Amino acid sequence: MKALSDFAPWYSSVHRGTGYKSQVSTYAYEKARRVVGEFVGADPAKDVVIFCKHTTEALNLAANLLETGQGEVVLTSEMEHHSNLLSWRKYHQTDYFRVDGQGRLSQEDLRAKLSQYSGRVKLVAISGASNVTGYLPDLCRIASLAHEAGALFMVDGAQLAAHRRIHMGSHGDAAHIDFVAISAHKLYAPFGSGALIGSRAFFKQGEPMLVGGGAVDIVTLDETLWNDTPDRDEAGSPNVLGAIALAAACRTLTQIGLESIAEHERALTSYALERLSGFGRVRVLGCADPSLPEDRLGVIAFNVEGIPHNLVAAVLGYEHAIGVRAGCFCAHPYLLRLLGVDAEGSRHHRESVRGGDKSRLPGAVRMSFGLYNDQSDVDAVVTALERIMAGDIRGSYIAETSSGDYLPERTRFDLARHLPAGIRTRG
Ligand SMILES: Cc1ncc(COP(=O)(O)O)c(C=O)c1O
Repeated sequence: MKALSDFAPWYSSVHRGTGYKSQVSTYAYEKARRVVGEFVGADPAKDVVIFCKHTTEALNLAANLLETGQGEVVLTSEMEHHSNLLSWRKYHQTDYFRVDGQGRLSQEDLRAKLSQYSGRVKLVAISGASNVTGYLPDLCRIASLAHEAGALFMVDGAQLAAHRRIHMGSHGDAAHIDFVAISAHKLYAPFGSGALIGSRAFFKQGEPMLVGGGAVDIVTLDETLWNDTPDRDEAGSPNVLGAIALAAACRTLTQIGLESIAEHERALTSYALERLSGFGRVRVLGCADPSLPEDRLGVIAFNVEGIPHNLVAAVLGYEHAIGVRAGCFCAHPYLLRLLGVDAEGSRHHRESVRGGDKSRLPGAVRMSFGLYNDQSDVDAVVTALERIMAGDIRGSYIAETSSGDYLPERTRFDLARHLPAGIRTRG
């Protein structure tokens, strides 16, 4: 917020104007690009940072630019956020390697798929960290397997970037990450900006996904000469404030130190898992061992036996002022796998949704830690869960079939009082 307000007086159009403010904005925008590249350990000589709206757009962009021929495939996994699943399958033949009952990627299945498609896997794309179980795949190992098979390797860094250092590494190394996608809002910056970072050579090929002003060197009525990347891949007026906020967040996280952030988060995660293990009725998805036998993020998805996940989330929010997320976290295949829903159960749920009823969909409650959380936050969740399990729910809630959410009966909020003056209206 400070970076934004400090820069606001200079805010002007990028790459378009000769005025002083425009020059300052262009300079700041290009500087932000370098900062974001450094944050993920990109090679400034070989990689390019393309600003996008968010990870979803970055993944769509990569998928759009990737070229696959007859019989060539993209491999992704069962644990993915829908963004890292649907973007690939919109443009390419896509296959998925499996996860085990604890939600960990199966390297055996990856190896089997790589050998099944021998030489025809164009790219392997996985999340750097699961937004459901906090699971951290072995990126170095998976990158090496992908490269050995002649495939490119892409990391969806949305969930990982604020919690662990991402290092793309040297081009040519077996463990090199060819592409990374990140979102500013997952790094404590505002929504609406993100980046795709990857090899400059890759982005010089083909037609840009989005076309228009800024993407071209010259246009006639029957010919277009595309600009060089990154400009050709950022058609339209760039979101300069978004880029600056993203870069400021990257710098701030680096200054705090991602290792300190990770240590703090490990301690909190271990404490939370320990406390939750005291409840026979709470089932954590994925690895629930407080000794953290494998490193993981502080993303803890769980269910309380006998109480719908959406009701638990509603009571935590409305009665205890604890904001959690509930549902499938944009990772339906992973959730169904973790919850042990079989093909028949899955078909049944699809039928309910087609019929307009989302109230009985399976899912979970998720708490997740940022660097501002401490043990008292975990204690607050644990106390609230104790009360919920003891039946101490004061409100009465109605399940909305259209959304699956539980809403308290009769409660009215004056949400308008939070609006800034510019968009507040009477009534
Ligand atoms: C693992 C993962 N991938 C992708 C996304 C999509 O990010 P965005 O909505 O910013 O595009 C998210 C968002 O939560 C995520 O957790």
